Amino acid sequence: MRIKVGVITFALLVSPLSGIADESLLPDDYCAWDVVDYAIEKPLCGLSGDAARGKQIVTDAYKGNCLACHLLPVEGVEAYGNIGPPLHGLASRMSEAQIRLRIVDTRHINPMSIMPGFYRDPRLINRPAKDYIGKTFLTAQQVEDVVAYLETLR
Ligand code: HEC
Repeated sequence: MRIKVGVITFALLVSPLSGIADESLLPDDYCAWDVVDYAIEKPLCGLSGDAARGKQIVTDAYKGNCLACHLLPVEGVEAYGNIGPPLHGLASRMSEAQIRLRIVDTRHINPMSIMPGFYRDPRLINRPAKDYIGKTFLTAQQVEDVVAYLETLR
């Protein structure tokens, strides 16, 4: 009896881990990224961002939806959230590589963060909504666009 319980416990512990190692569960266009010193130095998939597109993404409630939690210097916005810090002057206090990790997966900095990891490994997202299974919240290009926009906030 004891052995049986042990086997079941082992199977429960190991199966989610083997799922995470399974590359086939990742979207085809997902690019891996490396965290060094709380930052991601290299642009995702080697892409370069466009600040004007990034500005649209941060205000779009169906994409970044950053205004739900952050004050941003965008004209014509009447309501914004204050769950996160205001992002004015962000690029003067943080490097581009540090900003990139904040957007990609801020739980590498604060494991308890309520900010979504916009390019988190989709296999690590708990109970995603049906339409989001196996997907990132933003594409690599959209993340780079957002980073390019945030770089203009000095
Ligand atoms: C659900 C709320 C929420 C959303 C949506 C959200 N954030 Fe955040 N963000 C936070 C919180 C809370 C923090 C404070 C640090 C922490 O708790 O992780 C934070 C921290 C940050 C920081 C670090 C700022 C600093 O001065 O330390 C950046 C940069 C940032 N967010 C950018 C964004 C961008 C860009 C978006 C949209 C693509 C976004 N956030 C969407 C909640 C959110």
